[in-house]
Amino acid sequence: MSKPRVIVTRRWPEEVEAQLAEHFDVQLNPDDRPMTPEALKQAFATADAVFPTVTDRIDAEVMSAEPLRARLIGNFGVGFNNIDVDAAKARDLVVTNTPDVLTDATADLAMTLLLSVARRSGEGERHVRSGSWSGWRPTHMMGTQVTGKVLGLIGFGRIGQAMARRARWGFDMQILFFDPYPPGNDVLRDLGAESRGSIEAVLEESDFVSLHCPATPENRHLINAERLRQMKAEAFLINTARGDVVDEAALNDALEENVIAGAGLDVFEWEPKVLPGLLERENVVLLPHLGSATRETRVAMGLKVLENAKAFFGGAEPPNRVA
Ligand code: DGY
Repeated sequence: MSKPRVIVTRRWPEEVEAQLAEHFDVQLNPDDRPMTPEALKQAFATADAVFPTVTDRIDAEVMSAEPLRARLIGNFGVGFNNIDVDAAKARDLVVTNTPDVLTDATADLAMTLLLSVARRSGEGERHVRSGSWSGWRPTHMMGTQVTGKVLGLIGFGRIGQAMARRARWGFDMQILFFDPYPPGNDVLRDLGAESRGSIEAVLEESDFVSLHCPATPENRHLINAERLRQMKAEAFLINTARGDVVDEAALNDALEENVIAGAGLDVFEWEPKVLPGLLERENVVLLPHLGSATRETRVAMGLKVLENAKAFFGGAEPPNRVA
């Protein structure tokens, strides 16, 4: 029996690509150039499965190929807001994602941003590299203490809980959260985490607010000008979820007007573009969507896609089916 034909839209870690080639008739992308919408549409017409990633927009037009050969979309990423899931269902396409394996890496990065913006490490590094450092002095580049402060989590799923573990056990922080689907009491007890009935309550009480909610259409601009005003003036906002959960222009204004103290951002509304105002601010730490970017995690994400596809083409239910 011939192997299913698979098209992978971007370059993946070598060891995963080697495994893909063992199981599938695979078309890789060694140059790592993003595929155009036309090329993606062609992929759906010519392959049994397409393995896109979070930057590939898989919309109804891309899935409108006639005849459609593809039956599976194996997304390399836990977030799948790049895929029009309703359109996929309408075309009988199964969609899978890569949960769990990137939880720790993403929480590590959220903590990195929190510490960096509080302790001004990006600014400090630029200071040293530019040769401007004139030496130690009692009032030089004073930042904000992290230990013992209040961390508010918007979204308390896998990554939110992993962030809470780091903050609670590493930095003795008090954990508050808002999540319409909270975990069980054992998890809350374990982390000493307290639920709040509204986003506003979390914003008002927290010294650091970290976003871990999904990028649904309802969550677009969840953090807007009004909600930024509900945060403490000394508080920091951390976003490792998705860019459009924050109204980036409103955030820039809030920073300009000292409505909040700073922000740590790994994701942006119009990636890879970043609002020019943010680029100029010292009280913002900016990273290029690195949440899951460890070698171990990226390999594990690729292997998850492979595991799901092997199940699907073997006639079983893929373990991480989302549609
Ligand atoms: C995801 O998987 O959704 C991340 O944003 C990419 O690491």
